[in-house]
Amino acid sequence: MKSKMVLVAAVTLALLVGLAPAAFSQQYDRDATVKIMRANGAALGALNQAVKAGDFYTAALKLMDLAVGAKAMLAIQPPKGVKADWDRINNDIVLASFRGIGACGTQNLEALKAEVAAVLALNKEGHTKFR
Ligand code: HEM
Repeated sequence: MKSKMVLVAAVTLALLVGLAPAAFSQQYDRDATVKIMRANGAALGALNQAVKAGDFYTAALKLMDLAVGAKAMLAIQPPKGVKADWDRINNDIVLASFRGIGACGTQNLEALKAEVAAVLALNKEGHTKFR
C-alpha cells in the first residue's frame, strides 16, 4: 500500500515536472508581431506626414493607433531578451502617444514633435533589444 502511494506520488511528480514547461512557457507569436509592426509602420508614416502638415487631428488618430499596437504587444512573449523590458518599452510608447495626443489638443507642434521623437527612440530601443 505504502509503496503504491509512493509510486503514484512519483508518477504525479514526474508528470508535473514534464508538463510544467509546456504549460507555463508561451512561445513568441511572430505572425501577431509582424501584423502589429506593419500597422505601426503605416501609422508612423501617416503620423510624420500629419506632423509636417500641422494636421493635429490626423496626428492624434495615428498616435492612438500606435498606442493600441503597443498595448497589444504586451500579450506577446519577446523572441529574445527580457519580457519586463519589452513591457516597459511598450507601456512607455502608450504614455508617449497619449502625451502627443495631449499636445494635439493644445495645438502645440513643438510638444507634439518631442513626443513623436520619444516614440521613435522607444521604437529604436525595442528593435535593438528584440528584433
Ligand atoms: C513606432 C514603433 C514601431 C514601428 C513603426 C515598428 C516597425 C516595424 C516594422 C516595419 C517591422 C518589420 C515587419 C515586417 O517583417 O514586415 C518590425 C519588426 C519588428 N519589431 Fe517593430 N516597430 C516599432 C516598435 C517596436 C517595439 C517597441 C518592439 C519591441 C519592444 C518591436 C519589436 C519588433 C520585432 C521583434 C520585430 C521582428 C518581427 C519578426 O519578424 O519576428 N518593434 N517593426
